Amino acid sequence: MIRVTSLRKTFFGLHGTVRALQGIDLDVREGEFCVLLGASGCGKTTTLRCVAGLERPEEGEIEIGGTLVSSPAKRIFVPTEKRDISMVFQSYAIWPHMDVFHNVAFPLTQGYRRVAKSQVAEKVRQALRLVRLDGLEDRPATDLSGGQQQRVAMARAMVTEPKILLMDEPLSNLDARLREQMRVELKKITKAIGVTTLYVTHDQAEALSLGDKVCVMDGGEILQVAPPNEVYAKPASLFVAQFVGEMNFVKGKVAGPTLIECPLGILPLPAPAGFFAPSAVTLAIRPEHVKLDSADGSSASLTGSITTKNYLGDTALLEVEVNGVSLLVKLPGDSAFSVGQKIAVTLPLDRWRVFPG
Ligand SMILES: Nc1ncnc2c1ncn2[C@@H]1O[C@H](COP(=O)(O)OP(=O)(O)O)[C@@H](O)[C@H]1O
Ligand SMILES: [Mg+2]
Repeated sequence: MIRVTSLRKTFFGLHGTVRALQGIDLDVREGEFCVLLGASGCGKTTTLRCVAGLERPEEGEIEIGGTLVSSPAKRIFVPTEKRDISMVFQSYAIWPHMDVFHNVAFPLTQGYRRVAKSQVAEKVRQALRLVRLDGLEDRPATDLSGGQQQRVAMARAMVTEPKILLMDEPLSNLDARLREQMRVELKKITKAIGVTTLYVTHDQAEALSLGDKVCVMDGGEILQVAPPNEVYAKPASLFVAQFVGEMNFVKGKVAGPTLIECPLGILPLPAPAGFFAPSAVTLAIRPEHVKLDSADGSSASLTGSITTKNYLGDTALLEVEVNGVSLLVKLPGDSAFSVGQKIAVTLPLDRWRVFPG
């Protein structure tokens, strides 16, 4: 549905040259919810704006629904209003002087997606029902809460029944609880209408929960594209491992083809491809994969002691010191362990990831 190949975009600003996109490749299938995830400045918005036709990339191609809409080499550039897309931004950009109805009706009464007057009311009604704002048609936009304003922006984006929805951090201005509710709803809505979505966020939890597919970006490049569970379980690089979820990192070095030496001992783990003794590596393991047992009678090879305990209701976060290494451990519910206690620590070999560097 959206295909981006070798996309490059450079900004020549007052403060010098910024290579915002350095060869982006992206493929979003019909009906798919694809998330671009990365820290501020990595090129997410620029990618979205290129797809929207709001920026002109200097290299690469963009296809939407099988039509080439951007190709500098072939001198093709289809303007925004002729691309079958809708957009939702972080700032809701709804009209303060209009009521809810007229805000949502706006794209149906102006421009390329105008429809017959007789259809407007019904389409607006459907869009408002979709975002659960039915009944608020006459409410002035300024009398709405932040969450409701964002729903109006979504209804307006969807009222034209676009094939493609582009969203740039649309939930960032909402408070934490509302953001989580809207996340669930957003996923339901986009799936219900089957719209293809390209969604930008810097929030890794949001990316994991929303995406059918997550693209992790850094420095104008995509580092990994995979379903969220795979990005979490098998981060492709140290950067992705650091960016997505909590992770324990332990420095080590390669001691043999399948031996890594680190403060926790010599572990039978494969060295990264192309890395030989004594290359430096970083071992990584998730807090929920570290296992603890009361030390007495356990055959586990490592012993540690609990240095902190943080009870969070559904989980407990503990810090455990083992051979001078501090490990974060996540246990479901409350745990019987207490600070200062000696415990046996098990680090399952199949849970470790090994990265160069
Ligand atoms: N209009 C512009 N002029 C100059 N530099 C820009 C412009 N837009 C974006 N940039 C730069 O391009 C890089 C990528 O920006 P952006 O795509 O907005 O990142 P993100 O959305 O991931 O935070 C940043 O370094 C940003 O400062
Ligand atoms: Mg941005």
